Amino acid sequence: MKLLNLRYVLMTFIILTSYFAHGYVEECRSRMYPPKGPTFKGNVTWYTVNLDSPPSERWRHVMMDKKPELLTMIQAIKDLAGGFFHGQILHLVDKELPLIVDTLPYPFNEEIKGVAVVTGVPLGEVVLFNIFYEVFTVCTSVVTEDLNGNIYHARNLDFGLFLGWDQKNQTWTLTEKLKLLVVNIDFSQNNRTLFRSTSFAGYVGILTGIRPREFTLTMNERFSIDGGYIGILEWIFGKREGMWMSFLTRKVLENATSYEDAKKQLAMTELLAPAYFILGGNQTGQGCVITRTRVNTLDIWEIDLKLGRWYVLETNYDHWDEPFFLDDRRTPAMKCINKTTQANISLQTIYDVLSTKPVLNKLTTYTSLMEVSTGKLESYVRACPSPCTPW
Ligand SMILES: *[C@@H]1O[C@H](CO)[C@@H](O)[C@H](O)[C@H]1NC(C)=O
Ligand SMILES: *[C@@H]1O[C@H](CO)[C@@H](O)[C@H](O)[C@H]1NC(C)=O
Ligand SMILES: *[C@@H]1O[C@H](CO)[C@@H](O)[C@H](O)[C@H]1NC(C)=O
Ligand SMILES: *[C@@H]1O[C@H](CO)[C@@H](O)[C@H](O)[C@H]1NC(C)=O
Ligand SMILES: *[C@@H]1O[C@H](CO)[C@@H](O)[C@H](O)[C@H]1NC(C)=O
Ligand SMILES: *[C@@H]1O[C@H](CO)[C@@H](O)[C@H](O)[C@H]1NC(C)=O
Ligand SMILES: *[C@@H]1O[C@H](CO)[C@@H](O)[C@H](O)[C@H]1NC(C)=O
Repeated sequence: MKLLNLRYVLMTFIILTSYFAHGYVEECRSRMYPPKGPTFKGNVTWYTVNLDSPPSERWRHVMMDKKPELLTMIQAIKDLAGGFFHGQILHLVDKELPLIVDTLPYPFNEEIKGVAVVTGVPLGEVVLFNIFYEVFTVCTSVVTEDLNGNIYHARNLDFGLFLGWDQKNQTWTLTEKLKLLVVNIDFSQNNRTLFRSTSFAGYVGILTGIRPREFTLTMNERFSIDGGYIGILEWIFGKREGMWMSFLTRKVLENATSYEDAKKQLAMTELLAPAYFILGGNQTGQGCVITRTRVNTLDIWEIDLKLGRWYVLETNYDHWDEPFFLDDRRTPAMKCINKTTQANISLQTIYDVLSTKPVLNKLTTYTSLMEVSTGKLESYVRACPSPCTPW
């Protein structure tokens, strides 16, 4: 079955690639900020999630607002999944996944149950929605330092690869649905902001977050043969070691108190699947990409001004290897950052880089910009009208 899957994926890849007549790489964009025009689809709404209220209640107001969009998204996932393995996946989702919710760590188990209750979506499907991103997300994240030692951290979140291509609209089906679920969350405790994130309503882990004045954190998927997603399947079928990646990022944002503390936790905790953690701190030299396997850390690649390394950038390939030739977002992104120079780096110019195709592509759901010193998190829903690369 595994081989069959691989062949399916490769064939899709090749057909799509020839269909789109190869990568569309454009000149580095400039003056894209403030966001406007055809690549800007909209602002993201802010909600407060109060960590002092019980986990099952925390997301109520968010989910009341976003229930219709979540239902649409879940239906789209089901339509797609129904087409594989004669609907057996759906059977698994509705029969097996509700059982695993109690095996998830607190408070995530309670929060997920709360989301299911408020929206009326079957528990197994909310669980599936929360697992999904660990599997189908490709991204670009960057941490940079300017000449004054200010640290900026930004990312494009690209989601939905191979998940249904809408031929008429030239869009990815799930990507478009997901854009409607993008929300900004202010997590508060004792009536003050503890951390902020950009997320998808109904998803309780974190892919993009900031702890104001302390650190910033994003996660990118790492495709890897040393373990891959076997850990997730093992969890579902009873062997439960390691931590869900996006639960760890949330835990770190909630409970780590400094860049160094966050780095240690991200590097040392056993995981269910490989990942890249991109971490920014609040002073000079504090920015790194942590390359993880399930059990250990292969590499921590840090900003080093003495070596002329004033930024670190991660897509979905180990930084010491070449990116996959059909998916090179790294070279164009680095080219544009190099062209910007450290003297002119800012949230505005980083937005320009993240607006340049193929760094911006048809999978891009949102762009986030973070400035640790002010605690600022700005996110924008994106679009990439044709001609534009599918990923
Ligand atoms: C700095 O970036 C801005 C915004 O993209 C651009 O207009 C300006 O020309 C750049 N300045 C230099 C010195 O490159
Ligand atoms: C997005 O927010 C900015 C700043 O608050 C505002 O100027 C702009 O009109 C908003 N755009 C849309 C499309 O809502
Ligand atoms: C495709 O585009 C049309 C017209 O722009 C729009 O009405 C329709 O909702 C889109 N379909 C999807 C699935 O996004
Ligand atoms: C938060 O503020 C509200 C009103 O401002 C107050 O009623 C409540 O007691 C405060 N909660 C905490 C935990 O300080
Ligand atoms: C953070 O620590 C507190 C206190 O130990 C704990 O109650 C909470 O669940 C932790 N948060 C996460 C997300 O694990
Ligand atoms: C940076 O973070 C550390 C650890 O949280 C904190 O003690 C320090 O005050 C912060 N520095 C700045 C400039 O905010
Ligand atoms: C960008 O600059 C860095 C540091 O000078 C260099 O190592 C890298 O090759 C450059 N990348 C591109 C794509 O220009």
